[in-house]
Amino acid sequence: MSFEQLFKEISPEAISDNVFTLTGKDLYAITAGKQEHYNSMVGSGGGFGLIFRKPATWCFIREDRYTLELIQKEQTYTLSYFPQKYKEKMLFLGSKTGRDSDKMREVELTSIQTPSSDMSFREAKLVIECSLTALIPGLPDYFCKQETKNYINEAYREEKAYRKIVFGDITHVWAKK
Ligand SMILES: Cc1cc2nc3c(=O)[nH]c(=O)nc-3n(C[C@H](O)[C@H](O)[C@H](O)COP(=O)(O)O)c2cc1C
Repeated sequence: MSFEQLFKEISPEAISDNVFTLTGKDLYAITAGKQEHYNSMVGSGGGFGLIFRKPATWCFIREDRYTLELIQKEQTYTLSYFPQKYKEKMLFLGSKTGRDSDKMREVELTSIQTPSSDMSFREAKLVIECSLTALIPGLPDYFCKQETKNYINEAYREEKAYRKIVFGDITHVWAKK
């Protein structure tokens, strides 16, 4: 079945899932690249809403993730949300980097190309296509509360790689038919 047979385009306002459940409980796949070469990782947190009047998404991506490298190269990416039954399979995308592995061949999900040539998965229930608008350093100094500064410092003490706050305009939203 083609992408259009599986998914219908909806407006951002028509997303009926709760954003806290989608980002905090269900989690999601962030995918960048084109059919010839693409890569996905698991994302948690972030969200979506309006930025400067435009529907937008944001996620927090550690600066050394291979997916972030591809987002910067292509300037577009997808956020894919899955029914619960695919959660374990989706979590595999967060188990190792695709920089030097065959993760995208090993994952037990089937990739699919959107009409805009972005990549997602047939099993997704909701796909949000984004166009990169800003990459903001998630450094402790930018945050006002000591509690948050401590959290960031503690979380990245060993890795020495901070997260970037990745903002993207929503270009298309697709819901499973
Ligand atoms: C449940 C879960 C949630 C995650 N959330 C994030 C996240 O929000 N940001 C991030 O940078 N990494 C997150 N990760 C880690 C990446 O998904 C993981 O390191 C992945 O292998 C990176 O792949 P890549 O280097 O191929 O892009 C999460 C991993 C798991 C298992």
